[in-house]
Amino acid sequence: MTSPIRDSKINQLLDDLYQLEADQQAAIGEYYRKRSQEPDFSDAVFDDQTVEFFADKLVALDRDKAEFCYQVIRSLRATSVVEVGTSFGVSTIYLAAAIRENIAEDGGEGRVYCSEYEPAKAEIARSNFDRAGVAEFIDLREGDILEQLKDIEAPIDFILMDIWGPIPAPLLKMLNPRLRAGAVIITDNTESYRHGYRDLFEFIDDPVSGLSTMTLPFEGGLEFTVKS
Ligand SMILES: C[S@@+](CC[C@H](N)C(=O)[O-])C[C@H]1O[C@@H](n2cnc3c(N)ncnc32)[C@H](O)[C@@H]1O
Repeated sequence: MTSPIRDSKINQLLDDLYQLEADQQAAIGEYYRKRSQEPDFSDAVFDDQTVEFFADKLVALDRDKAEFCYQVIRSLRATSVVEVGTSFGVSTIYLAAAIRENIAEDGGEGRVYCSEYEPAKAEIARSNFDRAGVAEFIDLREGDILEQLKDIEAPIDFILMDIWGPIPAPLLKMLNPRLRAGAVIITDNTESYRHGYRDLFEFIDDPVSGLSTMTLPFEGGLEFTVKS
């Protein structure tokens, strides 16, 4: 399959990371098979046990969705990008590679701003950024993303939200006033976890937000939201 990223070193690293993710799928399936036997268990709720289980799992953004984000960032000529959910850094590498291309053509500076609260994952992500050669385009912080990304300045061009738990709605509320007109927010799995995104859609659907949205037919639904 052709990648929009024309950098064989990055594509090889991404192949390796997606293979690692595929290797973890059996353990994830087994975890949910066991837990689903508990009477009150819901896979939409990340309880402490599930958070601990996923502390060393990639759960990377699907490849076609990550490539789509790359293309949108190229199309927007985006240089200020926020990523919500970093893990081992797979999607971050796509975002940073797109920023690198934009800067090569337009000049200036650019960053992906992100934060990972699992220290071991953050360390692996940093090493992957070095291996991909895109570390200079990534500002990875450590800790809760709502705390860590408070100071991101306007104008923000693009946000990717690929995270579990109650983060998307408060995060978008916090950054919405700093989005430039035409900014794009991509949110993963808005069809399969629609109920979990109730607060997010309540905010987006309020005309005061200045946001309009549609669900793209990627697996599980991929939300494409635009700031007016
Ligand atoms: C679905 S994964 C992100 C995958 C990533 N986008 C990729 O393509 O590889 C979500 C990540 O968000 C992290 N996370 C969850 N809640 C967080 C929070 N409140 N602050 C920072 N990181 C958080 C988890 O540890 C997990 O690694």
